[in-house]
Amino acid sequence: MALIALGVTGGIGAYKAVEVCRGLQKAGHDVVAVMTRSAARFVGPVTFEAITRRPVITSQWRPGANADIEHIAIADEIALLLVAPCTANTLGKFASGIADDFLSSLYLATRAPVLLAPAMNSNMLAHDAVQQNLRVLTGRGVRMVEPGEGYLACGWIGKGRLAEPAEVVSAALDMLAPPASILRGRRVLVTAGPTYEDIDAVRYVGNRSSGRMGFALADEARRRGATVTLIAGPTSIEPPVVAETVRVRSAREMHSAVMAAAQSADVVIMAAAVADYTAATRAEDKIPKSEGPMTLVLERTPDILADLARLPSRAASATPVLVGFAAETGNAVAKARAKRTRKNVDLIVANDVSAPGAGFDVPTNEVTIVSEAREQHVALASKERVAQAILDQIEIILTRTRTAVPAS
Ligand code: PMT
Repeated sequence: MALIALGVTGGIGAYKAVEVCRGLQKAGHDVVAVMTRSAARFVGPVTFEAITRRPVITSQWRPGANADIEHIAIADEIALLLVAPCTANTLGKFASGIADDFLSSLYLATRAPVLLAPAMNSNMLAHDAVQQNLRVLTGRGVRMVEPGEGYLACGWIGKGRLAEPAEVVSAALDMLAPPASILRGRRVLVTAGPTYEDIDAVRYVGNRSSGRMGFALADEARRRGATVTLIAGPTSIEPPVVAETVRVRSAREMHSAVMAAAQSADVVIMAAAVADYTAATRAEDKIPKSEGPMTLVLERTPDILADLARLPSRAASATPVLVGFAAETGNAVAKARAKRTRKNVDLIVANDVSAPGAGFDVPTNEVTIVSEAREQHVALASKERVAQAILDQIEIILTRTRTAVPAS
């Protein structure tokens, strides 16, 4: 978890900074808000105070709670200075080394990486003075999140609106990514969401998986430099943007897509809630309802994880690294331990889907990551934070297998 200074300056996009703040926190980071005087005209500091649960810094003359000159103290603590929105005025101060408020002083005092999300009227953005400031700052290694195109607050249409919060958050997380993850350049296959097993032209059997857990894993693997293929069942939540996304509906379709993609994968993470049973017969048309009960005959679906464990490459070189989940209601860890051995996989992520705030659909989860060597409990946290813990374990396995003496 890193401390991020979120600079907010006086543009209409200041209200989006609230969403940027929440996104950084969901990823497990701590945020201290630094607002310019004009920013406070758009969003009250109390909003950020409530979200960050930290005093919002609006002036360098606030009587400090400690002897340190505050902008110096914070400058040393933060892992990233992010300014969103960043007005033309603040760009100019940063480029010229002016330090007449807390934020511009913090920019000069910190040695942390700096990420700016410029936002202004399109003519201002195109002005040579602003373009010159952008060139100076990028020349110093400051990273930018490109402004978006579209309707601007001033009623114009053009380039200059603050980038979407998700884009700003993703760019910030990329800058905080562990520099040399062993996942960089590796091919990671992730499954997410439910499968729907059709009964007739109208009805199906499915489950409550939203896709959030698998999407968080795919996005975190991407952030660590992996080439990610995401195979997802039907979800109402948009998946993250990764190298390749394949949408499927039934367990059988997911099985085909996974087995095809697994041939070239270094890691496979089966986070999807794949149906164990499907309709033995699927009616082409809608089965007319009758007064009496409807009897469904269900049959087993292909066990994807079991088929992955039988890949010849698993016996030859323990690749791909296989990660399964166990969705249980009680005794999750004991069942996961047994499942890991039975299925011959490297990790099983146990989650008790009946526990408050865990499992299906919710933005949080509580898991125990079961490997041969250890069991790591991850207390209730965002699924983004849980994904980080799972990928940390996968990196340990990859490091071990990579340094293992190759079979002679
Ligand atoms: O998507 P969310 O709303 O965020 O919810 C997350 C989740 C609860 C779905 C997720 O955390 C989770 O537990 N996913 C696995 C759900 C599941 O199918 O668990 P299971 O114990 O029934 O299956 C065990 C493992 O076998 C899973 O890795 C599953 O992907 C896999 N499986 C299951 C059936 C099947 N036919 N083939 C499989 O490969």
